[in-house]
This record gives sequence, structure tokens and C-alpha cells, in this order.
Amino acid sequence: MKKKMLITETILRDAQQSLIATRMPTDDMLPILSKLDNVGFYSLECWGGATFDACLRFLDEDPWERLKLIREHCKNTKLQMLFRGQNMLGYRHYADDVVEYFVQRSAYNGIDIIRIFDALNDIRNLTTSIKAAKKENIHVQAAISYTTGEMFTPEYFVNYAKQLSDEGVDSICIKDMAGLLTPPKTAEIINALKQTIDLPIQLHTHSTSGLASMCILEGIGAGVDIVDTAMSPFAQGTSHIATESLVVALNDTQYDTGLDLVLLNEIRDYFVKLREKYINSGLLDPQMLMSDTRALIYQVPGGMLSNLLLQLKQAGKEDEFQKVLEEVPRVRKDAGYPPLVTPTSQIIGTQAVFNVINNARYKMCTSEFKDLIAGKYGKTPMPIDEKFKTKIIGDDDIITCRPADLLSPELQNLSSEIKEFIETDEDVLAYAQFPKIAVEFFEKRRAKKYGLNAKYGDIENKVHPV
Ligand code: CO
Repeated sequence: MKKKMLITETILRDAQQSLIATRMPTDDMLPILSKLDNVGFYSLECWGGATFDACLRFLDEDPWERLKLIREHCKNTKLQMLFRGQNMLGYRHYADDVVEYFVQRSAYNGIDIIRIFDALNDIRNLTTSIKAAKKENIHVQAAISYTTGEMFTPEYFVNYAKQLSDEGVDSICIKDMAGLLTPPKTAEIINALKQTIDLPIQLHTHSTSGLASMCILEGIGAGVDIVDTAMSPFAQGTSHIATESLVVALNDTQYDTGLDLVLLNEIRDYFVKLREKYINSGLLDPQMLMSDTRALIYQVPGGMLSNLLLQLKQAGKEDEFQKVLEEVPRVRKDAGYPPLVTPTSQIIGTQAVFNVINNARYKMCTSEFKDLIAGKYGKTPMPIDEKFKTKIIGDDDIITCRPADLLSPELQNLSSEIKEFIETDEDVLAYAQFPKIAVEFFEKRRAKKYGLNAKYGDIENKVHPV
């Protein structure tokens, strides 16, 4: 039985996020977009995740302009984005009206597929964005954050997938952001999902530990419908397996992708040159390409390792690295086994560092860690021990409702706060997520447009001459 394997190409988002800290400017993408559009990929993952933040913070670009430009150049292929549910593309929970508006503008500006996930796999953090996306008639893919631990059995994934299916999502993704999947686990989970869920299943796994190509092959055998890959110059290491390699591997099999290797090689040539540029500028560190199975030992995602080391260095305690690595799984267990992905990876990692450098567990706790224990991020996969809760937050209130139910609508207030800067319908959304950085960006944009020392009054006069 023939089953064409569908491919999501990630070079414009996850691959460059994983290998060059999301610093690929739109100008480096534009020349190759029409070729990427002609390959026949199932979708191009090109927006969301950290790209929004990076555009504003580092690249001096309007992320919405990037989306519009990609849409203009890619008329045939579905454009896909990654969205953190109630956290949108920022780092806190936002009120429903902001989430709804963000999803609406994303669809309006060209997104066809929205991949939505929550760090805790708490479905209540996804319902608003799922509903909003369905209203826009775009494809809603719910991603399940993959992690390891006693309770993360195939039944756990099937149960969650069933709940997501009941919410009306169009497909399910297993999102292995840390490269923790092994080939037998992949087969086990995909088999279980295919037997119980009547939706397309997509597999997203990073090559960090060197197992991804084996996992993907096992996943395909077990019935996966779509897989994520990256063009070879930005593949491997903390990124994904190489697109061309998978296409060749499946050639003349029942899963033949039908993609044109000659065209793929033309695209490869383009990205090889870009890759050299990024290596020369120091953005791409070939170290990142080395297989690293430490994630499987310590349950610490690759990206977290370098962050932890940096935090220890700043405290002059880098010789405590090993202790921190051993502390992370303990803190994670105390906190109810959250999968380690933004923002929980930072919260658990920082708390582990505090425990080690203070040489006393939980003597000092970050406010984010307290919030996690108090339920402000949602429900953790495992219940947290009552005594531990009291130790961390004392008599403070525990939140058991959907966290966003505690937030009043905020879109109007946000809009009025930056009234003087607003030039587009989307500006308020940048401000909602990254207030300081967005204002700096707006100021620079204004300076470029109206002259360096332009004050609000001057612009008013230019825009509305009296
Ligand atoms: Co990823």
C-alpha cells in the first residue's frame, strides 16, 4: 500500500532557531523562497517560536512584515507557525482577548497551519487558541510536549491526544524538543496513537542525541503521516535530520515523498553559502553539531546545558556543573514532572542552580518557581506533594482553575498605552509580549521614517499637516 510521506521543512524557523539562535534575517530568506515553494513540501515552518522575539530584539525587523513577505513569495505551500498556547510567543500567560487577536492576525497575514503546545500539557492552556484558530478556518495542530518519566507511558500520550481530538484539532504532533525519544519509544507511542486516534500524526524530533533518523524511520514504520526535517546545511546536532537524506532513504519505497532531489540540491547550494557566512561570523558553532546523549542521562535538553553552564560561570561556580545536572531531575520531580521546554526548562534549571550554589535546597526560590508550584502555569503532569507546596509558597493561594480565567481582558489597555506608536493593526501584539523591546523598535522605526530626532509632536505635524 502506497503512502506518500509528507514533509514539513523547518529551515526558516526551528532549524535556524536551534543552530544560529534564530538570527537568520528575512533578507537571507527572500532569494530562496520561490524555490522552497516549488519543492512540494507539505508545509514550511517559517514563523512563531522564537522568531518573533528575535526579529524585534536582534534583527530590527517587524516579524509581521517577514510573514507577509514569505506569504507573497510562497503561494503554493502551506505556511506553518509554532504557538505556545496561552503564552503566545512570549513568556507569561496572556488574557484570552489578546490570544484570540494574535491568532486572528496570524491567519490574516498568511498562516495556514498553527502548531499549538503547552509546556505542562495542560489542555486548558490550549483551548482559547484552538477555538480562535478554528474560527479562522486554519489547520489546528496540537503538539504534545514529549518527556520521560514513569508516568509518561503510551497511555498518557493517547489520553492527552484523545482530549485534544475532542477539542476538534485537525492533527496531533509528538514534539520531542529535547531529543529524548529513542527508536523503540517512538514506535510504541506512534503505534498506540495510530490505533486509537483518527487524526494525522506528525513527528517532531531533534537530532541532539544522534537518534532522530532512527526514531523517524521507526515512526514511519508505525504509521506516522508527516515528519519534520531541515535542509542539510542547517540539519543535525540540535536541529533536525536532513531533508534530502530522508527523501533519498524513502525513494522507491511505499513511502516515497516524490520530492525533486535536483531542486533540493539547488536549495542546498544556496544554504551552504549562508552556512559558511554564519560559521565565519561565529553565529554557527560546529560544536552544536556533535551528538550529545547527555540529555538522555540527565533529562536535560541540549539547549539547557549551555544556559546552566552560563549561569554557573556568572556565579563563579562552574565546577559545580555536574551537581547541577544531577539536581535538575530532582527539582523536576518535586515540581510534578513538567516537560522541560520554554518556560519550564528555564524555571527548573534556574532553581536547580540556586539549590546548588546556595548549598541548600529551596532556601532561595525564584518567583517563577513559586508560581509553577502555586499552579499559575497550569496543572503539572503529576500532583505536587502538599508538604513541598507549603515549604515553597507557605499559605499562599493555590490556583486550580484555568490560569487565564484570572486575567481580565487587556487588549484595550495595551492599545491605549502605546497609542502614540501604533502604525499597524499588529503593533499592539508586539507590545503585549515584549513591552520594552517593542517600544525601542517602534522608536527606531519612527526615527528611520521621520528623521533621527523626531519627537511625537513633529510626526503628528508631518502625518497630519495642519
Ligand atoms: Co523543535
